[in-house]
Amino acid sequence: MSRNWWEERVVYQVYPRSFYDSNKDGIGDIRGIINKIDYLSSLGVGAIWLNPVYDSPNDDMGYDIRDYEKILKEFGAMEDFDELLEKLHKRNIKLIMDLVVNHTSDEHKWFKMSSSNIKNRYSDFYLWRDKPNNWASFFVPSAFSYSDSRKEWYLHLFSEKQPDLNWENSDLRSEIYVMINRWLDKGVDGFRMDVINLIAKAPGLPDGEGDGYVFSPEYFAMQPKLHHYLREMRQTCFATRDCMCVGETPFTTAENAPSLVEDGKELDMIFQFDLMDMDSDGDKWHIKPFSVETFRSILSKWQKTLRWNSLFLSNHDQPRSVSRFGNISSTKYRIRSAKMLGTAIHLLRGTSFIYQGEELGMANVPFSKIDELRDIESLNFYNNAEDKEWAFNSILKKGRDNARTPMQWNSSKHAGFSEVEPWIGVNPDYNQFNVENEENEEFSVLNYYKKLIKLKSTNKIIIEGEFELIMEDSDSLFAYDRVLGKDKIRIICNMTDKKVIIEDKSLQNIILDNVKDPDLNFLLPFEARVLN
Ligand code: NOJ
Repeated sequence: MSRNWWEERVVYQVYPRSFYDSNKDGIGDIRGIINKIDYLSSLGVGAIWLNPVYDSPNDDMGYDIRDYEKILKEFGAMEDFDELLEKLHKRNIKLIMDLVVNHTSDEHKWFKMSSSNIKNRYSDFYLWRDKPNNWASFFVPSAFSYSDSRKEWYLHLFSEKQPDLNWENSDLRSEIYVMINRWLDKGVDGFRMDVINLIAKAPGLPDGEGDGYVFSPEYFAMQPKLHHYLREMRQTCFATRDCMCVGETPFTTAENAPSLVEDGKELDMIFQFDLMDMDSDGDKWHIKPFSVETFRSILSKWQKTLRWNSLFLSNHDQPRSVSRFGNISSTKYRIRSAKMLGTAIHLLRGTSFIYQGEELGMANVPFSKIDELRDIESLNFYNNAEDKEWAFNSILKKGRDNARTPMQWNSSKHAGFSEVEPWIGVNPDYNQFNVENEENEEFSVLNYYKKLIKLKSTNKIIIEGEFELIMEDSDSLFAYDRVLGKDKIRIICNMTDKKVIIEDKSLQNIILDNVKDPDLNFLLPFEARVLN
């Protein structure tokens, strides 16, 4: 059977605002990405996922779209986008766009029309009520805000400036499908669909159970109607095209996830968040220590649940993985654990997503005060928190701006990202961790990632092989075999700062290792080894 292209390509996620500033305004842009295509190509990745580049007032950094057909001015113009697409395709790199259709900006023309008190085609495009329910929103206490013009309340699961669309309305759905098809006709190769499993809401928007504002995913995530919408979308937009759709689907479980992907009629893949939630106790800001056992059991559960998984440890919403799951107490451990984590996740079965800077071992940012932050989620959380010191400490560990500081290109001022002060400060460690240094250093995280990407996208056993968990009782190791017929590749990762003796030496040929002179008898702290 021939493989789908996304089954043999590694995806690299570009956060345009922080990738490279070509026009000296402190903000990354599309031309900046064009200027760095050689770099993308040198990584060996086969596709790029671009965070939103559409026109937006940037209340939530582009996830509040004002016009789906226009490029954000700060990022360039449609001609730049077209050139980027063409140049990527020339290098055999596919381009995946972000699709944000659970909500728009309140500055979108649909919402402006919808909030008028005169009835029109758009009146029903959003979720209007004459009184709010008790749902909490992700970003602000209440998920409802009042419109002075329409004199009614509208639902927004995110900020007040991100009103939720009413998917019950078939005119709205048609408009969205036309928009999607326009991008596909241009030649884009698929979409990462923002919170796509939240588009259907429970009829009547019933109150959640509890006092005050209640976070109520049981009424806004994975509702039965979702499957109808996704199938309709697939039929209308994707069925006859060779494109890939990966859904961002919070609150999915091993029980309900297969309904989204298994028969291929809805999505090709999902992002589920079990691993990202493993260090939270209740909400994301209450932090639990890392546990190898939990890491292993989550990953092996999903490897067994779905035929094809998305594989990621970081993205623009998550802190840096090396700070979170690795060890940054010394440069040696930071470099080694960054490579180990890459090995642990990306050699599993599924499509790898590498977030910009992950390949350099970029780490969380030592912000020193709240006005250095830009993210609405962190700022709102801080402003509403009673204990500011605790809130700030949680933001240092979990805040999204950890991942959004500029890409570190070299040791010159602003890390070579821009010639002027960037929109958000550069991580002060850029002198050491940057592309130029790491290209020249044989044992850098970057050079290791290149090997990893090559292995991931060319090795038949790594692409097609089944996953088998091994050494499952170890309290230090995450280890598994990838098995294809009689062939086997073994991956052993020491996730701790202790040396671990290896008892099973049935495979002895080391094909990749993150330490210089590996010893078959043991693994050093944070060592990762690939054997066949
Ligand atoms: C998920 C996106 O990744 C995140 O950045 C955004 O804030 C929310 N969805 C709302 O669109």
